[in-house]
Amino acid sequence: MGAEAPIGVFDSGIGGLSVLKYIHASLPNEQLLYFADSGFAPYGGRPESEIVARSLAIAEFLMQYGAKALVVACNTATAAAIKAIRELYPSLPVVGVEPGLKPAAALTRTGTVGVMATKGTLSSTKFNLLREQITAATNVVFLPQACIGLADQVEKGELHSAATAALVRGYLQPLIEQGADTLVLGCTHYPFVQPLIEELIAHITSKPITIVDTGEPVARQLVRLLTEKGLLRQEGVGTITGFTTGSQTALESAFAKLLGLHPPVMPIAASA
Ligand code: DGL
Repeated sequence: MGAEAPIGVFDSGIGGLSVLKYIHASLPNEQLLYFADSGFAPYGGRPESEIVARSLAIAEFLMQYGAKALVVACNTATAAAIKAIRELYPSLPVVGVEPGLKPAAALTRTGTVGVMATKGTLSSTKFNLLREQITAATNVVFLPQACIGLADQVEKGELHSAATAALVRGYLQPLIEQGADTLVLGCTHYPFVQPLIEELIAHITSKPITIVDTGEPVARQLVRLLTEKGLLRQEGVGTITGFTTGSQTALESAFAKLLGLHPPVMPIAASA
């Protein structure tokens, strides 16, 4: 599999577009395949075994398209399934997304960091090991906040509705009241409500709050791995192709609304 091959990127739905944006910007010659598993979203409350099964089915689908690398653009799927994906494709570059605890620990001044993520991510062994390691090394306290229902609001395109604002406020307020001055967006759907989060923060406190998102570091890691393996596509026009187990028009409008892009989108039978 050579440099001409595409890169597969997937998420439970449209959240991974917040990562795809950085991949597309840093690798403008690459052919990107984006798989939104919107027919099965949200992953956040599903049992780990289901998330692993979905992730392996999607990885296999993308590999059938000849992917030279995979990006698991979903914190929940990374926590549950990246190990299984790497075991299945041992020589393939596979990049995952994890809540940015390390950068947050370096940024906080109060020593308290709020972590907004799905229930699945926050209860995973992978997340809790990382959290314990960083707390042991830095004394930073992490306050996990499961944001149940928030990825769904983003899937519905409700980035600024009264219902989304009420939900987000309910999650933010206790974190800020407990002294968090840094917030980790530990779900790839959440950067799309960052403007709303910032607006609500301004209503809750006048203190500066730093928001940490991991889309850009993920793109950098992908560039690093492809460069090391001599797999960068150096020239040619970059393309994006979307696949979805949900509604074709929903993914088309998410591309247009969230990224200003109009790639072709193919509906995929839910069994992938
Ligand atoms: N976007 C996903 C994440 O980064 C999960 C959202 C969901 O399906 O619950 O965790």
